[in-house]
Amino acid sequence: MASMDGTVVMVTGAASGLGQAVATGLAREGALVVVVGRTTARADEAMKDIRRLVPAALLEPLACDLSVQSSVRTAAAEFLSRHDRLDVLVNAAGVFRKERQVTPDGLELTFATNVMAYFLLTSLLLGALQKAAVTGPESRTADRSAAAQRTSRIVNIASKYGNTRLNFDDLQTAKGRYSYLRSTPPTMLARVLLTQEFAERLQGTGVVANAVHPGLVKNTSLLQDVGGPFRWVTNAFGAPAEKAADTALWLATSTEAAAVSGKLWAKRTELPTPGMGSDAEARKRLWDACSRLAGQP
Ligand SMILES: NC(=O)c1ccc[n+]([C@@H]2O[C@H](COP(=O)([O-])OP(=O)(O)OC[C@H]3O[C@@H](n4cnc5c(N)ncnc54)[C@H](OP(=O)(O)O)[C@@H]3O)[C@@H](O)[C@H]2O)c1
Repeated sequence: MASMDGTVVMVTGAASGLGQAVATGLAREGALVVVVGRTTARADEAMKDIRRLVPAALLEPLACDLSVQSSVRTAAAEFLSRHDRLDVLVNAAGVFRKERQVTPDGLELTFATNVMAYFLLTSLLLGALQKAAVTGPESRTADRSAAAQRTSRIVNIASKYGNTRLNFDDLQTAKGRYSYLRSTPPTMLARVLLTQEFAERLQGTGVVANAVHPGLVKNTSLLQDVGGPFRWVTNAFGAPAEKAADTALWLATSTEAAAVSGKLWAKRTELPTPGMGSDAEARKRLWDACSRLAGQP
């Protein structure tokens, strides 16, 4: 794995589970890791956890309730007041909720966190990602190739989505009876579609965007609210977060992954994106819907 000395990276969902494992791995590689937590206290706790494993970790807290657009805008502005460049953005925060909840922006919580936060935070940080792509890491190391030095990365944790489709008439799961099986799988497809759209829009800028299927990740807090057999199966058969983090870390750091964009990966291997995951019109429709919901032109 290439050294990340001199790079600035941001990881959402770094307070626990997969996000924290990715943040720890990036800290181990020498990156300055901006640890995004729901609150400052949550980010501070996460930094203590990471330092227990990587005592020399370079870490900075960033508080953000990702389900609330004003909080995402404030956090992005705070980051940009501290840094003008971002080498890697890992979007790992996510929820899985038994009951339907509505955010202050009037959005269903799962959609707001799992989709809108990815869209909005990434959009707000594109300038810093592009700046890092142009300038490269501050202290270059011998084992980073020229191509990798000039590539910034967006890594979106997503999932295989099976036959799931997005219902554009009901993105907020407001019609009919809410269930997490109706609300959550489409958000994984949406993450893949947004990744593809970012990749297309960023062609030629030196910024690549890829999505990751981490497989089942055991003993995280994701399924706490849902419980039941689904949680039991995940904890029985899932991989520990440290292991599941491998592909995200590879996409974030390796020279090989510097040249790939717009793909879904598992175990460092490209996965097909069947069904709506290959539907360019659905991708554009989702992008337009997210832009509208974020109040962007
Ligand atoms: N576990 C799996 O089997 C699995 C499979 C496929 C994909 N994934 C994806 O992997 C990612 C990580 O999941 P995980 O299993 O590691 O679960 P996790 O431990 O619950 O991690 C999710 C993280 O997101 C944060 N988060 C949620 N809502 C937030 C908000 N509004 N503002 C700020 N932070 C927020 C949580 O912070 P708090 O602790 O403060 O709530 C938590 O740190 C998720 O995106 C999930 O969809 C997981």
